[in-house]
Amino acid sequence: MRTPIVALALALSLAPLASFAADKPDWAFPVTDKVQPPSKDDPAALRTGPDSPLKLTRAQIDDLFGPPDWRPEMHPPMPQVVAHGRAPNVRACGSCHLPTGNGHDESAYVAGLPAAYFIRQMQDFKSGARKGSGSMTAIGKDISDEEIKSAADYFASVTPRKWVRVVETDTVPKTYIAGGNKRLAHPDGGSEPIGQRIIEIPEDENLVLNRDPLKGFVAYVPKGALGKGEALSNGGDGKTVACTICHGPGLTGLADIPPLAGRTPNYLVRQLFMIQSGERAGPSSPLMAQVVAKLSVEDMLDLAAYAASLTP
Ligand code: HEC
Ligand code: HEC
Repeated sequence: MRTPIVALALALSLAPLASFAADKPDWAFPVTDKVQPPSKDDPAALRTGPDSPLKLTRAQIDDLFGPPDWRPEMHPPMPQVVAHGRAPNVRACGSCHLPTGNGHDESAYVAGLPAAYFIRQMQDFKSGARKGSGSMTAIGKDISDEEIKSAADYFASVTPRKWVRVVETDTVPKTYIAGGNKRLAHPDGGSEPIGQRIIEIPEDENLVLNRDPLKGFVAYVPKGALGKGEALSNGGDGKTVACTICHGPGLTGLADIPPLAGRTPNYLVRQLFMIQSGERAGPSSPLMAQVVAKLSVEDMLDLAAYAASLTP
């Protein structure tokens, strides 16, 4: 009579989650704005990157089956699935996650993820237990076990590096969500109060639009977020469970539990929110159930800001 007990334990651990499944933090789930600011961009113009011999059009850069490799010296040789994917459904991992695995704010930082963890996530996208990304669900449905393994081994072998600069502030540049769910500074300039949000924008917009991994992002967070996040990461007086127990000292990962240090904070907020709401419910998610049960969106913000500020 094992199964009913397990089912009961699961039901109990999931019970408190429903009461918090309210206010989705839209700022952490960017969606391309319907009305875009007028673009001065010439799609036929050739783009270049500092100290790289490449000259590419916008269409070449956005070819999801042959993304640009501006800096081959920054990563090991890519396997086929990372460099080219497989038409029509398995898009090249290197396009959204970059050949260096650092990714953009709307995707995910996958450099240095433990291979066993990576493989489990792909299985969860495939089974539908993990939702939240239409792209990953579509890829998950068609990708083979061999392709998953070669992508997992590749990204596990890429050395993580500092990619996000976290800054506490009261005001942020006005932003908009460009094509591909990408938050950018508004071309008209201006600033606005940050409120309870994390606003992540490129350090250098052209590099990011070119999918060039030379420089990453600045993440603006509300004043006080880092201190509150650090306190919560130590358990927050019983509000949650100390993250280092499972995510390792410095939150750099432990065995098949993923690192959190230095990863894009909006990504981390999305995961905490979706684990709490049940949209992310793979076989290992119950280990996070007690952690997220009592977290408000503000707590998630603080934890993500703190984790992102650590050295990956
Ligand atoms: C079109 C863009 C796109 C492409 C191409 C893409 N991904 Fe992703 N990937 C995403 C997004 C977006 C997320 C984050 C989903 C979320 O926020 O929950 C993600 C998340 C992931 C994660 C979860 C990371 C974690 O820490 O749990 C893995 C693993 C992953 N992708 C693997 C791959 C592999 C393997 C490929 C190539 C076969 C690939 N991705 C190609 C957009 C993409
Ligand atoms: C009891 C162990 C445990 C504790 C304590 C714990 N975690 Fe986790 N966490 C996990 C496991 C296991 C996963 C991976 C789940 C899976 O494979 O789907 C995870 C995944 C995550 C993810 C998703 C990462 C990604 O790459 O998508 C985030 C974010 C996260 N944890 C944040 C935290 C924070 C913040 C704390 C502390 C407040 C914390 N965790 C404490 C076990 C734990």
